[in-house]
Amino acid sequence: MAKGFNVLFVTSEVFPYSKTGGLADVSNSLPQALNSLGNDVRIISPKYGQLDERRLQIHEIKRLKELKIEVNSKETRFSIKSSFIHGRNTKAQMYLMESNDYFKNKGIYQNSKTKKDFPNNDERYLFFCKAVIEILEILQWKPDVIHCNDWQTGLIPAFIKTIYKNNPYICDIKTLFTIHNLAYQGNFPKSTFAKTGMPESVLTEKGGLHYGQFSYLKTGLNYADKISTVSRKYAEEIRTNKEFGCGLEDVLNARKKDMHGILNGIDYSIWNPTVDKLIPYRYTYQEIPLKYENKRELLEKYHIEFDEDIPLIGVISRLVDQKGFDLIEKILPKLMKEKVYMIILGTGEEKYHKFLKNAEKKYKGKLAVHIGFDEALAHHIEAASDIYLMPSKYEPCGLNQMYSLRYGTVPIVRNTGGLADTIVDYRKPNGNGFLFEKYDSNELFNTVKKALNLFNDRNKWNKLVRQGMSLDFSWKVSAQQYMKLYKEVSHK
Ligand code: ADP
Ligand code: GLC
Repeated sequence: MAKGFNVLFVTSEVFPYSKTGGLADVSNSLPQALNSLGNDVRIISPKYGQLDERRLQIHEIKRLKELKIEVNSKETRFSIKSSFIHGRNTKAQMYLMESNDYFKNKGIYQNSKTKKDFPNNDERYLFFCKAVIEILEILQWKPDVIHCNDWQTGLIPAFIKTIYKNNPYICDIKTLFTIHNLAYQGNFPKSTFAKTGMPESVLTEKGGLHYGQFSYLKTGLNYADKISTVSRKYAEEIRTNKEFGCGLEDVLNARKKDMHGILNGIDYSIWNPTVDKLIPYRYTYQEIPLKYENKRELLEKYHIEFDEDIPLIGVISRLVDQKGFDLIEKILPKLMKEKVYMIILGTGEEKYHKFLKNAEKKYKGKLAVHIGFDEALAHHIEAASDIYLMPSKYEPCGLNQMYSLRYGTVPIVRNTGGLADTIVDYRKPNGNGFLFEKYDSNELFNTVKKALNLFNDRNKWNKLVRQGMSLDFSWKVSAQQYMKLYKEVSHK
């Protein structure tokens, strides 16, 4: 196995600095896993307005202060600050990009005050992509590979191959572009393109032109040296099925030989009930009764009377169509007639906030809803629930089903993407959860019923719980697969 790649991991969110979903967890844990295999992977991400420098131990770097670049024909100043991500035996250098013009407000993609997308998201991430490239020479640290993630980083590969193609420090740096979610494309009006300073050849079908718009994602897919996505099944679905391809099937098919599916891993120093500091009672697979203490405490917090024999279904999610909330909405009246508790933590689209708040009132004593983003509560729900529900329409990888397995919380998922690659039907010898095929509320309900029935047979249920808890989805194997791609792409 090759050793020692320099990799700059470019990402728009990183736990614990900024997080809306799984990308933040991956951006924290994959670089550390790669470093423990002998690489020098450094992360770079925006320093959004809400970041607390003291709490997160963010420091100045003298020679990376008050730098200047031109964006949209205007000069803008920015600084790079430093911090470290620490694991049990691993760490990774973290660079945070500070800019008064682009990242001063609170919020990642949406302004926390207005709850709307920043109107200048095109320019915010155009600036980010350009500045990432510009700092490399000043940093005097040259990556073999720039590892780009999602549309926010999509312009980097194209910049390297156009405006930096004659820059000797930059021109031979290779790029890997990882798709975490193909449905978020960063599509902007054509007028955005003029702000990039790139040649017109990029605004074509072979570049970033996508149904009359300029797409950051499509640009990334066309110019990156290699492409990956976060499970094998999703890699196949997005190439072969229009429903998943989001209009990019042709682009992906044209790049088939450069495209790979690598399953995300889990950081068991963070998501693990035996060491988790965010849950009231820590437990191993031999201490399931302690899991019920977590359940008791969570239900009491929401003024729900605890009964060990009634299963608790947990959901932690962005409240968006992807995650199957229309199915949950359809089955809820029937489900609430069953012997069951449910807790839902999430934030997202207003229509789902409304539905959930109303449902909470209607099913008082059985259903608890927490609208918002709450890391500690997410851990407590994983530890307290008996069942985790994830009926996604599509799911590039999904982390919560894997977290759930480790917490002894049996997943019910739809058979798609990374859910299909990680969950095995409970009737099989190596079964760990429940799957349903069609995106259909009856199928979902029938599958939930099967789980509720099995819960009554505690011996069988506990066997399933232990089976899930003993599985290992840590990063090592996947990190080695990324190294293989770094090797192929950099010819090192
Ligand atoms: P996605 O990235 O599509 O949102 P994943 O399953 O990959 O889905 O990752 C979701 C991550 O975000 C998990 O760590 C989950 O616990 C977290 N998460 C989602 N919504 C919330 C929330 N409202 N509060 C706390 N954590 C959340
Ligand atoms: C995306 C996907 C999710 C995946 C995560 C991390 O947000 O929706 O399935 O687990 O990225 O790769």
